[in-house]
Amino acid sequence: MLNSFNTVYQHSIQNPEAFWGEAGEKLHWYKKWDKVLDSSNPPFYRWFAGGITNTCYNALDRHVDEGRGNELAVIYDSPVTGTKQHYTFRQFRDIVALFAGALQSRGVRKGDRVIIYMPMIPEAVVAMLACARIGAIHSVVFGGFASHELAIRIDDCKPKVIISASCGIEHNKVVDYKRLLDFAIELAHFKPEICIIKQRDQLKAELNEERDLTWQQSLLGAEPAQCVPVESSDPLYILYTSGTTGQPKGIVRDHGGHMVALHWSMKNVYNVEPGEVFWAASDVGWVVGHSYIVYAPLLQGCTTLIFEGKPVGTPDPGTFWRIISEHNVSVLFTAPTAFRAIKKEDPNGNYIKNYNLSNFRTLFLAGERADPDTVKWAEKQLQVPVIDHWWQTETGWAIAANCQGIEPGPVKYGSASRAVPGYNVQVVNAEMEELPAGQMGDIVVKLPLPPGTMLTLWKADTRFVETYMKHYPGYYQTSDAGFIDDDGYINIMARTDDVINVAGHRLSTGAIEGALCEHPDVAESAVIGVHDDLKGQVPLGFLVLKNNVDTTESQIIKHVIEYVRENIGPVASFKSAVIVARLPKTRSGKILRSTMRKIANSEEYTMPATIDDPAILDEIREALQTIGYAVNSKPITKTE
Ligand code: COA
Ligand code: AMP
Repeated sequence: MLNSFNTVYQHSIQNPEAFWGEAGEKLHWYKKWDKVLDSSNPPFYRWFAGGITNTCYNALDRHVDEGRGNELAVIYDSPVTGTKQHYTFRQFRDIVALFAGALQSRGVRKGDRVIIYMPMIPEAVVAMLACARIGAIHSVVFGGFASHELAIRIDDCKPKVIISASCGIEHNKVVDYKRLLDFAIELAHFKPEICIIKQRDQLKAELNEERDLTWQQSLLGAEPAQCVPVESSDPLYILYTSGTTGQPKGIVRDHGGHMVALHWSMKNVYNVEPGEVFWAASDVGWVVGHSYIVYAPLLQGCTTLIFEGKPVGTPDPGTFWRIISEHNVSVLFTAPTAFRAIKKEDPNGNYIKNYNLSNFRTLFLAGERADPDTVKWAEKQLQVPVIDHWWQTETGWAIAANCQGIEPGPVKYGSASRAVPGYNVQVVNAEMEELPAGQMGDIVVKLPLPPGTMLTLWKADTRFVETYMKHYPGYYQTSDAGFIDDDGYINIMARTDDVINVAGHRLSTGAIEGALCEHPDVAESAVIGVHDDLKGQVPLGFLVLKNNVDTTESQIIKHVIEYVRENIGPVASFKSAVIVARLPKTRSGKILRSTMRKIANSEEYTMPATIDDPAILDEIREALQTIGYAVNSKPITKTE
């Protein structure tokens, strides 16, 4: 019989060591931990302290050694290249071990960093697991980021090796990854010793003979590598995510806590058993891809799917249903924006009717708030539970979810459901007082965070403490605001920093502003996230020009759009900007981005009490009207 959700949750909060210790027993350790939780140096908590393990062993070899080597581990389905491949656990283990040996033969050792900048091909997953196997620390950079962003990450984590591909395929266009990589290395101060390039048929890359090897060349003479035992708290990976400034934050994840939490989540949150097919339609460049394309499904002995395509246009809005039916997918996890894209092209779900989805059980959504319309549409079309769940790159797995493997609760539209076992979530005001049910405030999580969450920021312990732990001592500040209702259901309403969410991708307005200000004619800029029916939010730039500029305004706008695309990447979806004479600011000089956002989104706003000159807001409204915004918001009379 299932335990009640409350029993499991309370046990996790009151006896975290007993709770996670039991979960840890299910995995393989070369040496068991001395202590489930080492709290000796808060807020730097360490799970399974003293334990020795290896994540790759647990994700691949363990299943082979336990007799499941012939079961399917990985399916690669690429509608953009017309390719389908299937790998058993044994086959995938052997491929990973050989590539790990290739890395070792080039001098990569435990603790060395390896950047992976790749499209959604099996080699991306092989590279990640090969690093894990030899204790190297991978840092995957999403392919939609351009050279400048890649260069920042190269300089921060100083990789010995970069693994990439000659190209990616986006819709019908071929993206020259190697050109972007070469330029990034040119921009970066730190230079990697070796680049390993997977040559793809769609575009062959030119190699730099002193530095580059093809994937095939790297394997010549390599011997399969054994798993290297590592400390539980040794870093498995660094994943950069956007913060308030243009300098991304390198989230560091460990081996031991991470594998235990993800393994636990597969049964308890997603209710998936070994042998089932679990599909996270995301990208390995994002945390969802790390956790639920690569590590969690394989740790659980499930088959995972590497999908190189889009929900629409590759070739049609029936692709998701084809994949579910053809590969017998039990559970799908994606972002609401993917469903909005499908709904837009196939509002009546006609494509769904062409496929047998009888084995499909649950749809999970995350990455942004799942809007009720999209959830209801998906429920109606698919006739399965549609579960919104909330998480962050920092946590690596869900903070709130309707745990399908414990005791599923009712779905409440607009809510990400209850705090997941392990997370003591509270809503507080600026004075750190816990707020009553229904009241909006900052969402915080009482320390210690459960296993699987970040250890620190790469080489930036002080920034880790100041960004996340200082404002509310004893708590992790999520930078999300919202409320918890009487039933404990959490509603995430907004970010409290300058992070925006574009098609489920997290971006920093600060980074885009930084790029805009590099234009020689731009004196100052502000970027806000405006509502978009498909992508949730898209960035909009406001530019203040220098005096006596020769170039026309429309040329400047064209240039800055191209510049952001070339530097940050197409993923920023930065397609519109407007020129204004001045930006609204407080008397102390802080740009009033949230008021500008409310005006652009036609929301009511309160006139900020500290505004320097209220007339500037009228200028902003007029500027927005010139680019087609039907701005009909009015300030409500009360000042803040
Ligand atoms: N490599 C290179 N370029 C990439 C890329 C990659 N891995 N991923 C995206 N891009 C490019 C796209 O081609 C697009 O370029 P364009 O401006 O020339 O059209 C741009 O970056 C913006 O990409 P995206 O926001 O993904 O828009 P889209 O129009 O290509 O697709 C959706 C829209 C909704 C279909 C798409 O965002 C999607 O499937 N989202 C699923 C959500 C998801 O994966 N979220 C991750 C967290 S769960
Ligand atoms: P990322 O780190 O890219 O996963 O982005 C994390 C941010 O996305 C969170 O801080 C939220 O702002 C937002 N987010 C993710 N999932 C949800 C959700 N289910 N509901 C609301 N916001 C979400």
